[in-house]
Amino acid sequence: DFYIGTAVAGGGHHEEQNYPDPFTSDHKYRKKLARQFNSVSPENQMKWEYIHPERGEYNFEMADRIVDFAERNGQVVRGHTLMWHSQNPAWLEEGDFSDSELRAILRDHITTVVGRYKGRIQQWDVTNEIFDSEGNLRTEENIWLRELGPGIIADSFRWAHQADPHAELYLNDYGVESINAKSDAYYQLAKDLLADDVPLHGFSTQAHLSLNYGFPGDLEENLRRFDELGLGTAITEMDVRMDLPESGEPTEAQLEKQADYYRQGLSACLDVEGCDSFTIWGFTDKYSWVPVFFEGQGSATVMTGDYTRKPSFFALHEEL
Ligand code: XIL
Repeated sequence: DFYIGTAVAGGGHHEEQNYPDPFTSDHKYRKKLARQFNSVSPENQMKWEYIHPERGEYNFEMADRIVDFAERNGQVVRGHTLMWHSQNPAWLEEGDFSDSELRAILRDHITTVVGRYKGRIQQWDVTNEIFDSEGNLRTEENIWLRELGPGIIADSFRWAHQADPHAELYLNDYGVESINAKSDAYYQLAKDLLADDVPLHGFSTQAHLSLNYGFPGDLEENLRRFDELGLGTAITEMDVRMDLPESGEPTEAQLEKQADYYRQGLSACLDVEGCDSFTIWGFTDKYSWVPVFFEGQGSATVMTGDYTRKPSFFALHEEL
């Protein structure tokens, strides 16, 4: 009943993440993916722009492949994600739809995607990143919140629940490791949704951390307050990036510090009763999103690009 997961790379990643499909081109990747984890999360393959590239047209190929792989290897799947401001297809963002059309589009998407994998997804990130750092809903960037208002959050959960009554439905975001304005906003939202009998089952924090900031020491305390609401909690996308020296290679001291962050992240989840899913955002630097999205930074995962295990890999094993 405890899940150690990783994001599965390939399909819909940023064009500057210039690598061939690891699933077909990298047998070592597949074997390690099969052996080291009992949960997998499609890194991009279930996002709107990838799975729903044209209006009314779905592309399930890569998502199917991951779900099939997981089943063959006795793994569970975290579905990611149904309602987000980012990685949406142009037809949606640039389309000219009435409110009722948009509602129908979202409902159809959630019903179709969640329904396709009914009974095969352990947890769904129903909403992703709906609050900004001040704890305000992203009503400008998020097409659904902008056009349809905050009530669409509860609707999304209800539609997902109808499509797969056994999937655990999550609110997911970054920067909510600590108790802060943003996680306070989630705490309030969670209470409101539960009071309205919305099928909300969990709150999860991505945990994209950086050695440039201290480890969020109140992570456990934060998870615990959601746990006390009766919600599941999870860490869904942990990585720990760092400024790379000119050589491009991290120093021993950096790697030790990184190991300590990973250890503390896992430890916080282990210490909270309802936190039973701990996922890292990729397990090798070979396919990590970090160097493309954070200039000058890297080495964020637990293995180097040639699969050498870092101190952080051993730290996770020890902590378990
Ligand atoms: C990232 C992927 O890792 C990249 O390959 C992609 O180009 C952009 O998205 N928060 C999330 C994830 O919820 O979906 C993001 O994944 C990382 C930040």
